[in-house]
Amino acid sequence: MSSHKSLSVLLAGTALSFTALTFAASSVSAAELRVFASSQHRPDVWRKAFDMYEAENPGNKIIMETGGNTSELQAQYLNTVMSAKDSSLDVMILDVIRPAQFAAAGWTTPFNSTIGDTKAFMSKYLPAYAGANTIDGKVVALPAFADAMFLYYRKDLLEKHGVAIPKTWSELTVAAKKVTDAENAPAAGRQSALQGLSFQAKAIEGAVCTFLLPYWSQGKDLVTDGKLTFDKDAATKSFALWKSFVDSGVAKANIAEVATDDTRKEFQAGEVLFAIGWSYAWGQFQTDASAVKDKVGVAVLPAVDGGKPVSCLGGWEWGVSSYSKNQVEAQKLVQYLSSPKISEFMAVNASLLPVFPELYKDADVLKAVPWFGSAQEIVTSAKARPVTPRYNEVSEIIRTTVNAVLAGTMTPEKGVEQMESRLQRVLR
Ligand code: GLC
Repeated sequence: MSSHKSLSVLLAGTALSFTALTFAASSVSAAELRVFASSQHRPDVWRKAFDMYEAENPGNKIIMETGGNTSELQAQYLNTVMSAKDSSLDVMILDVIRPAQFAAAGWTTPFNSTIGDTKAFMSKYLPAYAGANTIDGKVVALPAFADAMFLYYRKDLLEKHGVAIPKTWSELTVAAKKVTDAENAPAAGRQSALQGLSFQAKAIEGAVCTFLLPYWSQGKDLVTDGKLTFDKDAATKSFALWKSFVDSGVAKANIAEVATDDTRKEFQAGEVLFAIGWSYAWGQFQTDASAVKDKVGVAVLPAVDGGKPVSCLGGWEWGVSSYSKNQVEAQKLVQYLSSPKISEFMAVNASLLPVFPELYKDADVLKAVPWFGSAQEIVTSAKARPVTPRYNEVSEIIRTTVNAVLAGTMTPEKGVEQMESRLQRVLR
């Protein structure tokens, strides 16, 4: 299409490119856009949002691509595409931990010239996401959905056994034992054993949060003012806590093989009492195909004894590839996908947490996902994983250690030693 050609010429690395972008925005309106979405976060519902965009913007066509069922696998794929300066991908969804790395590599086109007053535009979003997407004054991506980790529990089973929602991990251990002992007794006649707790210990991105939850709950930070502030004692206790769940049978022996969506599937099949998971899971639990429909409660994650409850901040962002030949159309699409309308649509239809504060009080959102009414506080108080262009290395160090310790191939003490020296080399 000739309009694309002239646009990419205008954008070919000149200082004028952003002016050109704003100017051209009104005249160029149709394109075929290739969008990379996360396979884990309801691509079926995103497809409906893309269809809405196509209907409202005749002539535009969106081709969706998905791949890799976990954040780091998706990142691996995008790293390959971007390193090759591949222009076939126009728009991509990025985990909240990645904008800094993508910005440092120059892989996303900033939105500054198309969103007007940058501060005013970004201040409409929850501050954590405005912050994560603004790197050195450049808006490198726009929020797709918010996220945090929650404790999912079987409401029906806690009621049946007269057990309260645990506020600490010790309480959770006691509760899990009581319920699983009763439910797994031969007389209860279960087809498959009920697990007490499912969490993620596979060497995936989610395992970084697994490590950090009890670490943070002890009041410790991993990075302070850009410097590593690794507390060995707190780290050892974090590993020891997770390991204790396996050793006591509260979590299954092969927890080191469990990734985010495995937890979701096992809980959904009715095989788990307590599960640590992200918001998308709830929408799946509530489908007719789910064994736990209307039996699920959601609570803040337990704290360590004497500690405070804390969640891990998640979320995903839409970025425009700097190699896309459809810059104007891609930016326009992303602004649509990052609008209150689509945030509400994704909350209602996919239980993805809104990126706009007012949507946590929106009647349609609360009708579809009642517990979102109390989720805003959890999202806004959730702690962020370290922000650094070298996040890939930080993540790899933490998640492989979590995995080794939970697989039993490394002691918590040894894991902590190794982690500290490796992190010191990356985060000085
Ligand atoms: C969720 C979060 C994301 C996190 C991932 C880990 O998708 O939104 O931020 O990295 O889970 O599994």
